[in-house]
Amino acid sequence: MIGPHRVEGYAIVSADGMIADGNGVMPQSIRNDADQRFLQSELDRAAVIVHGRHSYEGGPRAARRKRLVLTRATPSIAPDPSHSNALLWNPAGATPEEAIAKLGVRGGPIAVIGGTEVFGLFLPLYDTFHLTRASNAKIPGGRPLFPQVGPHATPEDVLANHGLRPAPRRDVDANAGITLTTWQR
Ligand SMILES: NC(=O)c1ccc[n+]([C@@H]2O[C@H](COP(=O)([O-])OP(=O)(O)OC[C@H]3O[C@@H](n4cnc5c(N)ncnc54)[C@H](OP(=O)(O)O)[C@@H]3O)[C@@H](O)[C@H]2O)c1
Repeated sequence: MIGPHRVEGYAIVSADGMIADGNGVMPQSIRNDADQRFLQSELDRAAVIVHGRHSYEGGPRAARRKRLVLTRATPSIAPDPSHSNALLWNPAGATPEEAIAKLGVRGGPIAVIGGTEVFGLFLPLYDTFHLTRASNAKIPGGRPLFPQVGPHATPEDVLANHGLRPAPRRDVDANAGITLTTWQR
């Protein structure tokens, strides 16, 4: 939680736990329409979207959503010149509570959508993490879901080590090998 706000994470990862390739590009092999529909409807019920400067969910409703964009280009909190509903936020200079208050948001869930460092920063705070897996995709040398993911730790290991527990896995798109596991604190 952050104050009264639930904190929920959303990611789609390859079988080897990656969210993008080594160049920071999300490959087609982990893009899926059913997962996108799930993500977009979840983000519609979020009060605030949080992500790093290289991430953005896109879609026709994205501009309407209140958001915090992490960057070290500002010392604390500043207007985002490219999105009127967004603020630039450096967690080294302002708390999450301060950033959310500055957006004028008083209640509702916070949706964290990446990338790697941002997903890692919120590990102590997630109430829920929605982990979608593209089981047919591998991204050697890619960007991991969390900084800790690698040869000795899977995304599931990291979530379990931070006190989250999985609900039963369900199919999002069985033909494409896309599954969703919701982890709860
Ligand atoms: N598969 C998925 O679910 C998923 C999810 C998210 C993203 N992605 C993909 O992953 C790729 C980008 O990921 P990424 O990890 O490179 O980028 P990212 O987190 O979106 O952006 C990184 C930038 O965010 C800022 N930042 C990150 N941590 C910060 C901190 N603690 N304090 C202040 N600023 C911070 C920095 O911006 P400055 O350089 O301005 O300081 C950093 O360069 C894209 O292809 C995206 O589509 C995939």
